[in-house]
Amino acid sequence: MKTTAAITAVQGYVPEYVLSNAVLETMVDTNDAWITERTGIKERRILKGKDQGMSVMAVEAVKGLCKKRGIDPMEIDLLICCTVTADMQFPASANIICDKVGAKNAWGFDVNAACSGFIYGLTTGAQFIETGKHKKVVVVGADKMSAIIDYTDRATCIIFGDGAGAVLLEPNTEGNGILDSILRSDGSGAQFLHQKAGGSMRPATQQTVEAKEHFVFQEGKAVFKFAVTNMADVSAEIMERNKLTSDDIAWLVPHQANKRIIDATANRMGLDESKVMLNIQKYGNTTSGTIPLCLWEWESRLKKGDNIILAAFGGGFTWGSVYLKWAYGS
Ligand code: UT7
Repeated sequence: MKTTAAITAVQGYVPEYVLSNAVLETMVDTNDAWITERTGIKERRILKGKDQGMSVMAVEAVKGLCKKRGIDPMEIDLLICCTVTADMQFPASANIICDKVGAKNAWGFDVNAACSGFIYGLTTGAQFIETGKHKKVVVVGADKMSAIIDYTDRATCIIFGDGAGAVLLEPNTEGNGILDSILRSDGSGAQFLHQKAGGSMRPATQQTVEAKEHFVFQEGKAVFKFAVTNMADVSAEIMERNKLTSDDIAWLVPHQANKRIIDATANRMGLDESKVMLNIQKYGNTTSGTIPLCLWEWESRLKKGDNIILAAFGGGFTWGSVYLKWAYGS
């Protein structure tokens, strides 16, 4: 049988500090009822402390992953870090994470696809397993969104949180693992969701800092409209192309940006909400972290052979879906 790339372990990490809607009410003009109704979010985690970058969380997730699977980090061939909040502009955070976990034999790189980062990274990592080039690939999705959020802007500060999730990919010859993916992008969507300064086009200056151009800029309504349509469309498309009905699907693992976007996707797929992984109420939108954090939290309920659809939409615009069969559990 053909070699596929299967997830053989998953591990998450979220920082301890909880930023609740009640605390946000004291920071900006908002309220728990609005946030809950419009997004589904109740609280999010924030990584506190001086010089604590995204990699702090990614390292914890990857260390835990290796321990869980019983492998030495020296066995990792490749580590892909999906993030929009790299510790530094360069070098890539994948290098830093490999060093901190002791993955001395690995090479690595970062994938910047915003909220679709994890599915972009997963699909990329799977290629190296399928071709036989590598035996152990780690894909970690992690973001410290609090580093680029303006906590005086109620349109964005209520949504985002910090967190990380990692999976290990290994060869599978039982027909399980990643079976299909559809990935899309449309750069014309950049105008609706971006960070204005800090890149080569507008390097940091005193003026860019004063104008708050190093924070997330989002036209929420426009993004919402694209997200609802595209995440639902691509999820329906991957079902159709793999001849899957809603009864065949055990779980939808959606990017956690807004409960209303998730509901629209599940609805379009004909899925009951009992099949939809949802933890947005606890963590908010952790960008690249949402999907692996869901898999981590639901891991004990997943069974070998379960048909699972991952779906995401995010900045870029980027979006897509992945179809996989879970490879372990009883
Ligand atoms: O993950 C990456 C991709 N990102 C997304 O998928 C995010 C997509 N967008 C969204 O999730 C939603 O657009 C938001 C949650 C960001 C905003 O929700 P919305 O339902 O689109 O709200 P809105 O911006 O249309 O604002 C509706 C009203 C406005 O008041 P008026 O003009 O109707 O009087 C806002 O001023 O709600 C007001 N509002 C708020 N009220 C209390 C906006 N933000 C808040 C707030 N608290 N935090």
